[in-house]
Amino acid sequence: MSKPARLPRDAASVLKLAARSMFDLFSSMSEGMLLVDRAGRVVWINDSYKRFLPALGFARPEDFVGRPVEQVVPNTLMRHVIDTGKPILVDLLTNKAGTFVVSRIPLRDESGEVIGALGMVLFDHPETTLQPLIAKFARLQSDLDEARRELAAQRRTKYTFASFIGSSPAALEVKRQARRAAQTESTVLLLGETGTGKELLAHAIHAASARAAGAFVGVNLAAVPETLLEAEFFGVAPGAYTGAERKGRDGKFKLADRGTLFLDEAGDMPLALQGKLLRVLQEQEVEPLGSNRVIKVDVRVIAATSRDLKALVAEGRFREDLYYRLSVLPIRLPALRERLGDLEALAESLLESIAARTGMPQRELEPSALAALAAHRWPGNIRELRNALEQAAMLTDSARLSAEDFAQVLPAPAAPAGERQPGAPRPLPQLIAELERSSIDSALAATGGNKVSAAKLLGISRATLYEKLAGRK
Ligand SMILES: Nc1ncnc2c1ncn2[C@@H]1O[C@H](COP(=O)(O)OP(=O)(O)OP(=O)(O)O)[C@@H](O)[C@H]1O
Ligand SMILES: [Mg+2]
Repeated sequence: MSKPARLPRDAASVLKLAARSMFDLFSSMSEGMLLVDRAGRVVWINDSYKRFLPALGFARPEDFVGRPVEQVVPNTLMRHVIDTGKPILVDLLTNKAGTFVVSRIPLRDESGEVIGALGMVLFDHPETTLQPLIAKFARLQSDLDEARRELAAQRRTKYTFASFIGSSPAALEVKRQARRAAQTESTVLLLGETGTGKELLAHAIHAASARAAGAFVGVNLAAVPETLLEAEFFGVAPGAYTGAERKGRDGKFKLADRGTLFLDEAGDMPLALQGKLLRVLQEQEVEPLGSNRVIKVDVRVIAATSRDLKALVAEGRFREDLYYRLSVLPIRLPALRERLGDLEALAESLLESIAARTGMPQRELEPSALAALAAHRWPGNIRELRNALEQAAMLTDSARLSAEDFAQVLPAPAAPAGERQPGAPRPLPQLIAELERSSIDSALAATGGNKVSAAKLLGISRATLYEKLAGRK
């Protein structure tokens, strides 16, 4: 704000005119203007300011002008602006006249000394004038809060060993092995059918390990298109590509540095990637695409697959060296039908989480329902159990679920299509959803949980199958 130095003559006069025009513009555009002197006394108000006077308790401008500003404008900060010499460009002022968006600017003389301050009322009734802006701000703020919460929730591990329900010998053995794995740095290989809790256990191992404070980063090898996998794993150097990737991006290995990388559906890894992954696991360093530098990483790997890796090795579709590298600590998760003793405890815990999620009261199971559940084969294991419970709960209001409530939900033991009773008509969307669900379940059962083959059987892409399975959780 100091005096402009050595300006040509005409420039100085242009500046003066500019200041004048700005002043006139603000005076006419704003809702009101007032000037105070260095002593903080009101020395001038413009015409539009006059309409605030009655609400401030003054009938005539003469009563207002000449008084110390804080005496006539409650809550004003004009004195503060004079004292500090710093403007307050946007502020909300509330007093008995209402709430206003105001701006306060110190005024200086030629030598830069503060000689007073200019106050402007930019908007009165900000609640209406600024409504769209305030609403937008509130929306952005709540989106931001939401995103922060989600991020924090993702960083925090979702599951601990306590979330792995089951006290059958098979379940206890799995937990024992997993606890032991958590105490080591070795690669863990989780084997088991779809829905048996591999992902849950991977989270629990991470949470109980020395890396719990680090990130848990998951990559689903079957869900990421093959062409993108390398970039996904190793990252992209800045400038390696044009377009969206121009700035480069960190790969999952980098993101999992000092944490755990979860390789889900590891059996679906393309051969070309297998070799590269093996190198990274051995060297603990990655080379982002389009870069000639390697980055050191410190990553613990937990891999999971529902496929028979040994068979894949025998078929030449999975590298033997990688298989040995991954299966340092293999843990086989039992299928639900192998641990039916846990059925009741599992159902109980799932019903509790369903109730918490839907906000509906928690249901109980009649003995008949338990018997019906125990008779089912559960190709989709605990995920399928969860879905069955959720659907049965949606179909009835009764507090206790009986075998009947599950009759519609669980696919009936195979009966030749021709002999099936037509039964009462039911809503088409429900029938379609059931047909879809049972087709997917039988495809998965037929392929031993191999989703790529199941998707082929069903005539849908594996990404679509993943979407549908993810939608079930
Ligand atoms: N022992 C368990 N106790 C409680 N819930 C479980 C247990 N095992 C699995 N679940 C639940 O079942 C669902 C499926 O588990 P998860 O995703 O871990 O299975 P998965 O083995 O990774 O399956 P997929 O091979 O299809 O990816 C999840 O909702 C999970 O919380
Ligand atoms: Mg999984």
